[in-house]
Parts: sequence; C-alpha cells; structure tokens
Amino acid sequence: MKKRIAVLPGDGIGKEVAKGAVEILQAVGERYNHQFEFSYGMIGGHAIDEKGKPLPEETIQLCKESDAILLGAVGGPKWDQVNPDIRPERGLLQIRKELNLYANLRPTTYFESLAKSSPLKDEVIQGVDLLMVRELTGGLYFGQPSERMDANGESAVVDTLFYKKAEMKRVIEKAFILADKRRKKVTSIDKANVLESSRMWRETAEEVAKDYPHVYLEHMLVDNAAMQMVTNPKQFDVVVTENMFGDILSDEASVLTGSLGMLPSASLSENGPYLFEPIHGSAPDIAGKNVANPLAMILSAAMMLRESFGLETEANEVERAVKQVLDAGFRTSDIAEFGQQVTSTTEMIAEVKAML
Ligand code: NAI
Ligand code: MG
Repeated sequence: MKKRIAVLPGDGIGKEVAKGAVEILQAVGERYNHQFEFSYGMIGGHAIDEKGKPLPEETIQLCKESDAILLGAVGGPKWDQVNPDIRPERGLLQIRKELNLYANLRPTTYFESLAKSSPLKDEVIQGVDLLMVRELTGGLYFGQPSERMDANGESAVVDTLFYKKAEMKRVIEKAFILADKRRKKVTSIDKANVLESSRMWRETAEEVAKDYPHVYLEHMLVDNAAMQMVTNPKQFDVVVTENMFGDILSDEASVLTGSLGMLPSASLSENGPYLFEPIHGSAPDIAGKNVANPLAMILSAAMMLRESFGLETEANEVERAVKQVLDAGFRTSDIAEFGQQVTSTTEMIAEVKAML
C-alpha cells in the first residue's frame, strides 16, 4: 500500500513526539511492505513566526493532497500575547473547518500496568473501554452572532448554538457505525430538559437508531453524564455529543485512566483526509528536554493505520507494542511512580520500535 502522510509537528513537545510517530510508521511500513511517504508542513506558533499566520496556505494545500494528517501540538507562552486572530490555536480551529473534520474520536482504555497513575480507584476504572465521539465543526464554537453588544445601555454579550439537522445526523451516524463494531451501545448526551438544540439532537439520535436495530441507544443529560463518567465509567461504550459538551466531557473521560501523555485522537471528515493528534498540548514546561511521553502520538498513528488506511493488523500491532513496553516497566516521567526509573522520549520511541 502506498500512502502520503502530511506531518505537522507544530510547537514544543509536538515536534518531539511527532518524530516518534513517524519512526514507528516507518518501521511498520518496512515490516508490512507499505510505502508511507511523509511531507512536512507548518502550523501554530512557528508558522506565525515564519509566515505571519498560524495556518499558511501551503499547509492547507499539503493536507488536502495527503491521504492522512499527523499533528503534534501547537502553542506556547511566546505567542500568548499576539492578536487572538493569529494565535497558534486559531490554526487548529481553522484546519478542522477547512477539512470539515466533524467527528472527533477519543478512546479511553484501561492499561493495567498504569492503574496507579489514574486519579480514580482501580475498581472504578478496571476494564474501562470507552470511545467519545464529539461533534467538532458546529455548535457554540462556530455559531454567529458571537459578539459583545449594548442592551439598552447595559453591556451584554451573545454566543449562538447553531446546528443543521444534517450536521447532527452525520456525527450520530458515525457513533452508531463505531458502536456496531464494538459493544453495540450508544450513549447520546444532551441537555434536552432545557435546550431546543438538544431536543432536536435527541430526536435525530432516535431516527438514526432505527437504522441500527442491534445497537442499543440511551440518552443522558450532560450534568448527570459528567457525574457518571467518574462514578461508573465502565457503563459506557460509545458516547456521542455536540461540540461544547464534548469538549468538556472528553477531557474528563480522557484522564479517567491516567496521563494526558497516553491519549490519542482522530478527527474524521466525510471523504478524508482525516487528522490524528494526541489530546495533549505543546507542554512548554517540558519542551526540549526529551522527557515528553510519545505514546499518545504513537497511539494516534495507530488510529491512522486503522481509520484512514484500514490496516487493522498493523494498528493492533502498534497498540500491542505500546502495551508490552508499559508491561515491561518503561515509564516516561508523567507516568512513573515515585522512585521508578524514568525513560526519555527517544528511549521510549526506541523501545516501542523494538517491540514491533
Ligand atoms: P498541555 O497538554 O500542553 O500540558 C498540560 C500538562 O501536562 C503540562 O504539565 C505538561 O507538561 C503535561 N503533559 C502534556 N503532554 C505531555 C506528554 N506527552 N508527556 C508528559 N507530560 C505531558 O496543556 P497546557 O499546559 O494547558 O497548554 C500548553 C500549550 O499547549 C498552550 O499554548 C495551549 O494553548 C496549547 N494546547 C494545544 C493543544 C493542541 O495543539 N491540540 C491542546 C491543548 C493545549
Ligand atoms: Mg478542550
């Protein structure tokens, strides 16, 4: 198989971990006889420095011409003061919109050997295997108007939660398709007791469910879901929700089992290319020190093999290698217990490669 992969390392530890994912993909390519061709593009702070904007045209072009995209992370204190329209994070929002990446997938799985690095008790998280599906291109984060105003002499503000039904339908459908391949349960999260948009969301979920009679659909109010996520996360298989609820709940779900440095994500569009990135940021506090955990990025590359290229065996192989490295006791500083020997970023990458 021959595939073009756009690599956007970004800023801070993004660069360090992206290098790891590329090395692992190269090793997989050699072993399974695939030709992965990597092309590099700029996004985020360094793009602002060099091109004056966080997402230069040539990066958009490169992404559109590629079969899949790997992204490290963007941002850092150096760019915190710049004009909000050209902040590094603007590049992220823009690429999601440019590529119409409407469904963000974040799996949270339990790694037995890391149970101690979770904030929750082992009996609560043992066996957790959930997949959050967050709508990514609509809702409050994009709705217009979004502005300050004058309301009869008082200072006021408005943000708009806008969705077309078709935008709800496509992401809910995606959740059902994914659930169908898993434990066949979808939990749709909304605030239907208050919001009209949530009532339409709920109706849409019911309509989609008719096409998947063997997938069980349940509805849950978002405030209850936030509580259930930490008290009984094992009940969830696939969880689907709109943009802002998903932003909040996916962060909550993602740390159930441990470190930010372990968690991958995928963002899907209707016709590709898809984008894969770790959920963590550019971690300026540890950037350049060769201590960042590269596993979230490597697991994102595994998701790429599966979701973009249909290479299930290869994806499983990478995930198995990661699990074996953890079982063998290798730990970057974020997942090391007190007194445990710490593995560097580059050593961790080499260990995963050796396990393939
Ligand atoms: P962060 O995720 O960069 O870091 C939070 C904490 O977790 C830090 O203490 C960091 O050292 C640690 N951490 C994160 N990833 C790690 C890894 N792989 N290995 C070991 N430790 C890790 O979030 P923070 O500090 O809120 O944001 C830093 C910058 O990153 C900001 O400019 C922010 O806007 C940006 N950011 C970018 C994102 C992206 O590119 N998708 C997502 C989140 C934040
Ligand atoms: Mg967020």
